[in-house]
Amino acid sequence: MSGANEVASATSIRAGGAESADMSLSDRQRPEGFQLTLMSAVAVTSTLASERPEGFPRTTSSTVRASEHASRSAQPGLMVSGSNTPAMSPADDTDPESDLETSHGYPRERAEFYHQRQVEGQRPDVEFYVERALGADGPVLEMACGTGRIYLPLLDVGVDADGFDRSADALALLRETAAEVGFTPSVWRADMTAFATDHTYDLVICPFNAVQHLLSIDAQLAALREAYRVLRPGGRLCFDVFVPRFEYITESYGETDTETVAYRGAPHEFRTLTELVDEVDQVIAVRTELVDPDGKRVFAERHRLKLLPRRELELLARLSPFEDWTVTRNFSDEPLEDGDAVQVWTLEKADQ
Ligand SMILES: C[S@@+](CC[C@H](N)C(=O)[O-])C[C@H]1O[C@@H](n2cnc3c(N)ncnc32)[C@H](O)[C@@H]1O
Repeated sequence: MSGANEVASATSIRAGGAESADMSLSDRQRPEGFQLTLMSAVAVTSTLASERPEGFPRTTSSTVRASEHASRSAQPGLMVSGSNTPAMSPADDTDPESDLETSHGYPRERAEFYHQRQVEGQRPDVEFYVERALGADGPVLEMACGTGRIYLPLLDVGVDADGFDRSADALALLRETAAEVGFTPSVWRADMTAFATDHTYDLVICPFNAVQHLLSIDAQLAALREAYRVLRPGGRLCFDVFVPRFEYITESYGETDTETVAYRGAPHEFRTLTELVDEVDQVIAVRTELVDPDGKRVFAERHRLKLLPRRELELLARLSPFEDWTVTRNFSDEPLEDGDAVQVWTLEKADQ
């Protein structure tokens, strides 16, 4: 299939069947000196591991069944307090499980670990979003910018970018990293379902499953409406979420994945447990924990994510104010196909 046809296929689910403008990435030259010096995150190593969503468990030889260590709640509903704590942290089970889930985003240690892990992991989305931003005609907004994994490389290449996140700790880390290299970030704390800004943008991005943090239809649509509101006519919203793959759900959910990782100069154990906590609404809980070499818990955190198959997102797109949309695969311009790990959505506001 030629590149042009691939693009055409990728646009085939557009509203009203309208074919659109070229979806190819910008061919604008990178500014001189483009280095992504901050992150060294440009290598496009499109491995399965790098496409695995944050907190998405792998089946490895070190994987252990949580059920071997803990009795689980028989309730298929929302996770019950304490049900997984012993399996995740025999070293320290004093924290009530319910304290782990917060509506304020990642706590500080979790944010730092996330940043190190994802930057080192060289997820291919960094280059993708940098290219998209360089191809935009004006300012860019990152909704849920977190620790600046994408946001800081945008500043690094001279993009006029704003960002916000609901996690004060993640934003503090972003500001510290920016200060170290002499950047002045324009970021603030806000929720993507309702946020204030005086600016309009040519591109709004929401990378790395952040949309999946929105659990209700109302919240999902509110975020889409907010993005639409702050886009100039002709502007685009771009976000990526993982494809809920039955293979992972059946083989990996409910098992603790344990990995040894270097953190602050010492080997730590990073444990992840993903569980389907609401089958009807297809909501998962991802619980992560980092344990130091002395067996002391560095952090434990849990967040819930909505599984979003393509058709559900298409229905949301149809209900949103956006006039046009496209879905592609794995940070490319090729159409999303069965077996792909990542769906990349681009929603367009019509020129007026
Ligand atoms: C997986 S991280 C992605 C961060 C960043 N976009 C990146 O690619 O590294 C998800 C982020 O979404 C943020 N988040 C979750 N729900 C949010 C909401 N309703 N409004 C704003 N930020 C939110 C979290 O605090 C977290 O920083």
